[in-house]
This record gives sequence, C-alpha cells and structure tokens, in this order.
Amino acid sequence: MSDGHWQLEGTGAELYERYLVPAITAKWAEDLLDRAQPREGEAVLDIACGTGIVARLAAGRMGRGKVIGLDLNSGMLAVARSVPTEGVPINWMGGSALDLPFTSDSFDVVLCQLGLQFFPDQTRALDEMRRVLKRSGRAGLSVYSEIERTPGANAFVLALDAVLGRDASRIKRGEHRFTAAAQLETLLRAAGFNAVDVQTVEQTIVFPSVLDYVQFRLLATPMASLLKDRTASERQEIILSVASKTTALSTSAMLEGGTFTFPQQAYVAATLGG
Ligand SMILES: C[S@@+](CC[C@H](N)C(=O)[O-])C[C@H]1O[C@@H](n2cnc3c(N)ncnc32)[C@H](O)[C@@H]1O
Repeated sequence: MSDGHWQLEGTGAELYERYLVPAITAKWAEDLLDRAQPREGEAVLDIACGTGIVARLAAGRMGRGKVIGLDLNSGMLAVARSVPTEGVPINWMGGSALDLPFTSDSFDVVLCQLGLQFFPDQTRALDEMRRVLKRSGRAGLSVYSEIERTPGANAFVLALDAVLGRDASRIKRGEHRFTAAAQLETLLRAAGFNAVDVQTVEQTIVFPSVLDYVQFRLLATPMASLLKDRTASERQEIILSVASKTTALSTSAMLEGGTFTFPQQAYVAATLGG
C-alpha cells in the first residue's frame, strides 16, 4: 500500500489476500468463528477457503487438533500456503464443495464463509457438508444478503450498468443472490441440519477511496473480464467514469474523510449438533 491507496501489481489471489481479506473477510471470519467456536482437539474443515483466512484464524484459536482448508482454485490455495500460520498446522487441499474428498462423519466443525452463493448446486454442497460432519458437529456458513443492503456495492453496480450497459453488473450481483435469512435456513434444514440459527449481521467496511474500490473490482476480480478487450486508456476512462458515478450515488456519510465506508450485510448461519 502507498499513501493508504491500493497498488494493484500481483495476481488476483495475491491482491485478494493483501487487500480484501483485511478490509472484509477477516472481519466476517472472526464473527463466524465466535459462532462456531472451534475447540482444542477438534477436526475443522473450511470449505471454499480461498486464501485461507477462516482456516488460519481457526487454527490460531486451537492449541491442538486438525484443520483442513479446501478450495477449487489453485491460485487461491497457492497464496494460502504462502501465508504464515499460528497454532494447529493446516492442510490445504484442492477440491470441490460438491464432492468433498472425505469419509462421512469426519469433522467436528465445517465452515464455509462467503462461498455457498457461488456453488452451482447449493443443495448438493449442503448435503456434502452434512455428510462429512459428525452427528454432534457444528457448521458455520455465511452469504451476502441482497445487494441493496450493502450500499457501497449497490452504488457500484448501478454505476457500472450506467457506464457499460445493463448486464455489466451480473457477476457482482451474483454474489448477493440470497435475499432472505429464511432462504438459507430452509436450505440448511432440507440438508438435514436441525438446530439452525441464521442471523442478519452487518460489518462496517472501509476502502481507502471510491477509486480504490472501483479499480480493485474492475482489475483484480473476475469482473476484469468486462475490460479485457479494451485498451489501457479505455480501461482508465471506464474506471474513472464508474468511480465518478459511484461517488454521485453515495451518501455524504459513505464518503466522509475521502474514504469509501459503508455497512455490508450478510446472513450468518450456525448449526448445533445435527
Ligand atoms: C469470495 S471467496 C471466499 C474465500 C474465503 N472463504 C474468504 O472468506 O476469504 C469464494 C471462494 O469460493 C471458491 N469456490 C467457488 N466454487 C467452489 C466450489 N465448487 N468448491 C470449492 N470452492 C469453490 C472460490 O475459488 C473462492 O476462493
């Protein structure tokens, strides 16, 4: 980081770990672990672990036990392996949430932070989670709520559509496809989770500026595909235009001090023993 602004040299996975994890997913990870409470001596699985924040924080809370982080994306796992860990050693594994490479009743705790919304078959993924979890085990999951409940993301998708056309925000909107806590609860109960508690939770997210946020989204995430056929100057023009419209669609509270600050909402589920 230079002058507090984000430098975008590196792979998408490296930039995810350097910027998005401290700004966003580390906050959600602490909250998820407070609910799921991994304990000394337990076996913990973090599904869709990305660059590993949930697994790492879980390992740090446990003096003894076993932690596995699993993800489909080898680039994310390469970064996960490169970050130092404290506490229990972590086994990083490639694999799909839809076909978990574990025998039934293997884990005391199964976690999946901000991953379920991306899975092509959520029912199958939850069945798999239930299968590998011991009957007495606990699950912790989170998904973003509807995009209107996260005003910074909402201003961004409206701005993006205004600049690039109606379908431009499809990838970002896809992250927010859950529209009610009850939707997650129903899926969990259908998969055989009984004691299910789903809470609507908010975190305050701070980016160094609107421009940092927009540049990151459009250059360092899967949304980069939107600009891949543009020249460098066209890309710059689009980024400045989306940033300017995002600013216009934001409230003064969101822009205070030159930062881009807003509440981010998610549904967070904790299940207890079957
Ligand atoms: C938004 S990231 C969340 C990563 C991490 N849990 C965190 O909180 O930082 C979503 C992750 O889901 C992974 N993913 C998507 N589909 C998957 C699947 N079918 N099986 C396993 N991982 C998957 C992606 O590779 C990505 O790392």
